Amino acid sequence: MRDNSKLVGYIFEFAWILPSVAIPVAVITAVVITAFAVGIRVPDVAGRIEPQAINQTAPFDEPGLKELAPGRYEASFVAQIFMFTPNQIEIPAGSTVTVVATSRDVIHGFKIVGTPVNMMLVPGQVSKMTVTFDEPGEYLIVCHEYCGGGHHAMFGKVIVK
Ligand code: CUA
Repeated sequence: MRDNSKLVGYIFEFAWILPSVAIPVAVITAVVITAFAVGIRVPDVAGRIEPQAINQTAPFDEPGLKELAPGRYEASFVAQIFMFTPNQIEIPAGSTVTVVATSRDVIHGFKIVGTPVNMMLVPGQVSKMTVTFDEPGEYLIVCHEYCGGGHHAMFGKVIVK
């Protein structure tokens, strides 16, 4: 009588090895495709700024909404404990907004709920992301990096009309 236990052992071993190779290959393939074919990127450093010179450095010397062209805006925000300046902007539906933001003091987060905007605001660094608001509504801006005792109260709003 033949002993199949060795063969069965190989099959089981192979059944475990296969996904341990296939899963990382699938993940890396997905990352490469989304990065190079679909163009999905994590927000990178859009510039450097001296945190002490924020009040004298454009666009943060006058933070807020600026119309660049019809339907195109730049919205600049300064984060500090525990607020965003401005803490509210209002735009028409269909607008494309380039968000430019930095921090005056510690690391803050900048997430516009319901949009892909999800950035870290690091002192000395400018973060930038562009997003189109098609649906009217109120979009919450939240700080999602713990920045101190008032972290939970650090929020703002994008009103799309
Ligand atoms: Cu700012 Cu948390």
